[in-house]
Amino acid sequence: MSRLIIMSNRVSAPMAKSDGAQGGLAVALTAALREHDGIWFGWSGETSADNKVNITTFDGVTSATVDLTAQDVDEYYNGYANRTLWPLFHFRLGLTEFDREFQGGYERVNRAFAQMFAPHLLPDDLIWVHDYHLIPLGWLLRQQGFANRIGFFLHIPWPPTNLLTTLPDHGRLVESMFAYDVVSFQTEESLESFVHYVTTQMNGSFDGDTKLTVNNKTICVIACPIGIDAQEFIAAANGPVAADSCARMAASSAGRSLIVGVDRLDYSKGLEERFAGYERYLQNHPEKRKHVYLLQIAPPSRSDVDTYQRIRASLNALSGQINGEYADIDWVPIRYVNQGYPRDQLAGVYRAARIGLVTPLRDGMNLVAKEYVAAQDPKDPGVLILSRFAGAACQLKGALLINPYSADDISEAIETALAMPRGERIARWQPMFDSVREHDVMWWRERFIAALAG
Ligand code: G6P
Repeated sequence: MSRLIIMSNRVSAPMAKSDGAQGGLAVALTAALREHDGIWFGWSGETSADNKVNITTFDGVTSATVDLTAQDVDEYYNGYANRTLWPLFHFRLGLTEFDREFQGGYERVNRAFAQMFAPHLLPDDLIWVHDYHLIPLGWLLRQQGFANRIGFFLHIPWPPTNLLTTLPDHGRLVESMFAYDVVSFQTEESLESFVHYVTTQMNGSFDGDTKLTVNNKTICVIACPIGIDAQEFIAAANGPVAADSCARMAASSAGRSLIVGVDRLDYSKGLEERFAGYERYLQNHPEKRKHVYLLQIAPPSRSDVDTYQRIRASLNALSGQINGEYADIDWVPIRYVNQGYPRDQLAGVYRAARIGLVTPLRDGMNLVAKEYVAAQDPKDPGVLILSRFAGAACQLKGALLINPYSADDISEAIETALAMPRGERIARWQPMFDSVREHDVMWWRERFIAALAG
């Protein structure tokens, strides 16, 4: 059996010093690495001038990480990845920065990764590259002479052609993707956008199924939506830690309906619009005000990037303003929390919540929506309110699908959800639960690996 090699910017292999709180994706990839005797390569998350590969094996999984210099972090991670590709691929042209130094740093770090990882690779290794940080890595490995099967999975959306063409050197970036054997997106919509670009800008041809060809080079392109580790999360939701946090939430809710949002603090998550939609509900329903509250959990992320500093300041102001306007001595409309929580504790919070409010302006998939569904009590499930612009909306059709830009849409969905009878809640939830369980992260992983193995 071939070894499986994972390459991603962030490495979430189990670590001796970690708290054991790996996310679903990390758990699934770790399990695959154990089965395939593989290695997980990537950035250590540390900044130093030391450019040696640090190899450690813990709990049956080997990870190989490298530090980056401060300049690399600035130009590659904060720069091209998170100031250029992330906003552009999330349809936020106005927030996208085009800077040659970022692009140079991105190419330099990808090239350095290819050179540093190369000595550790074997000819029949299956190589799986993840996400927008490492798009050209497959091509750079080919430059080093590797003829292995190499696949790429994009976790975020692929933008429409007329957005992508604003990126200087967009052609070179896409051409480099033809070095992969398999390129996978989360959704059909992203896949269609990619095919559209290749057929209209590169004179490529598509066989209507999975084969995309440019200049006699054919690659396999698929849509393969990522899932959660449903079994583990359902077990967590039914376990003692979740029961405890669910009871804590119920006690502190004092009979009020809990609406919950859990997101990385990122402008793509639509948090300002969410607060505005919730405020619209409070405005339109003065008699219901003290019967609900919104708990928004939003751990800060990428805090060296100014767009993230701005969204943080803006949400502080907005939550303060709404609370100042509506709060009473015994009720606060928004509990806004800037820290993360262990997954089993979160599972209990989801279970206690009458509404899961997941309203990104654009999202590759959104696993919080799937976790919310997995955590519900089958006899009395809550209602998922989901942005139609999240990849998960293609699968979670029992949700109340809304336009996250519309405060009225959000407000009306909250009203509908709170009034929804139990029979309808169960009827909407059951097929979503079945889908989350069936198309879980193991299904996703096996489907991708099967395509990669060819
Ligand atoms: C998204 C990306 C991942 C990334 C994660 C956290 O889900 O698709 O590649 O790891 O956000 O972002 P961070 O910048 O903290 O790694």
